Amino acid sequence: MRKVALGVSSSISIYKACEVIRLFQSEGLGVRVIMTEKATRFIQPYLFTSLTGERTIVELFDDQQRPIEHISLVDEISLLLIAPATANIIGKLASGVADDFLSTFYLAAKCPVLVAPAMNEAMFLHPQTQENIRKLKALGVEFVEPDTGYLACGKKGPGRLASPETIVHHGLRLIKSREPFRDKVFLVTAGPTREFLDPVRFVSNPSSGKMGYELAREAWQLGAEVILVSGPTGLEAPAGVYLEKVNTAEEMREAVRKHYSRADVVLMAAAVADFRFKKTLSDKARKTEIGQTLEIEPTPDILEELGRQKQRQLLVGFAAETGRLGERAAEKMKKKKVDLMVGNDVSGPGVGFASDENEVTLFWPDGRSRKIPRMSKRKISQEIMAEIEVLLNERKGKS
Ligand code: PMT
Repeated sequence: MRKVALGVSSSISIYKACEVIRLFQSEGLGVRVIMTEKATRFIQPYLFTSLTGERTIVELFDDQQRPIEHISLVDEISLLLIAPATANIIGKLASGVADDFLSTFYLAAKCPVLVAPAMNEAMFLHPQTQENIRKLKALGVEFVEPDTGYLACGKKGPGRLASPETIVHHGLRLIKSREPFRDKVFLVTAGPTREFLDPVRFVSNPSSGKMGYELAREAWQLGAEVILVSGPTGLEAPAGVYLEKVNTAEEMREAVRKHYSRADVVLMAAAVADFRFKKTLSDKARKTEIGQTLEIEPTPDILEELGRQKQRQLLVGFAAETGRLGERAAEKMKKKKVDLMVGNDVSGPGVGFASDENEVTLFWPDGRSRKIPRMSKRKISQEIMAEIEVLLNERKGKS
């Protein structure tokens, strides 16, 4: 099992470290906590020991410890994360002071190092702290920028520890990032489109964007540059991902076209509305003005256009069906010239539109298929990325 060393220093936001541990564990990673002595004034080490199942390290010289544990632990971990990181620990790391377990361990660590600062805004913005951060960045240490908001001291400004989700998301990129994703641009579409009749009425579908956002998140963690073109959803884009918001199929088409030439992989998870109104009104129409019949026309088929213009891009389509999945997914795969079709039977309860879980079948142009049983959309994304990795490696092998 891969393991994260979580360094915890003395900040009021120390309680967020518990959630950081839980999130890493839910990704199948072990966590070993290292506390500074001052951090133990806020929380007893026993709390972290209980959460991780491993003894929390505080002292550099401890009879219960393996001899020179700061060296032996180095080989066990894939990431050193310091969250929360005070101005003091950042200053020590920047100047090479090694006077406790955490600062000594930093000097011994060979793995990537990620620091999530948390402090009063004046301390964070102080030229000395900024200089220390710059110094560490130049040495390859990565930072999760603190949030701006109300701080424990009552002031407002930058210095609030980033959310555990954002911290873990960055940490996972440092652990998981690899070839062939690292130098690739992924263009992902997500969510529904809305086709308006007038400013207050539209046709759409129940897509929540969850599937597409999970794909974007996973691609970024694997090391890719990710552009997410999203229809209206209630979701926040994963940190690091470039988000472009659209409403209609036409807007999605424009956004996708703009980025297509740079893209290496395109994942069309969006549920693009198939029809729009022939006539749209700029003012809200009265009920009596609308009448009984509304004329519609097809929206542009974005994926089909991409298929026609395809050069080096790897195209991944999604086919949402309520029956005859294999047959219909195969038809769409051929028509839209996609390299991998994700067949999504959306008729069952708890899968497909707006659910946290999904169940899909992957189809390849050579007739192969693979069913992925019901699991979270996050895990489905990981399975899809594993197949994309195979396709990218095959292409690399051929070139
Ligand atoms: O967003 P969630 O709530 O998480 O739900 C996920 C999902 C069910 C929306 C997703 O898994 C999914 O199946 N997305 C594709 C939905 C869809 O529009 O399927 P389709 O069979 O109608 O279209 C086939 C492909 O062509 C899709 O990749 C679609 O993006 C694309 N398309 C469709 C119509 C159109 N005008 N332009 C397109 O590019």
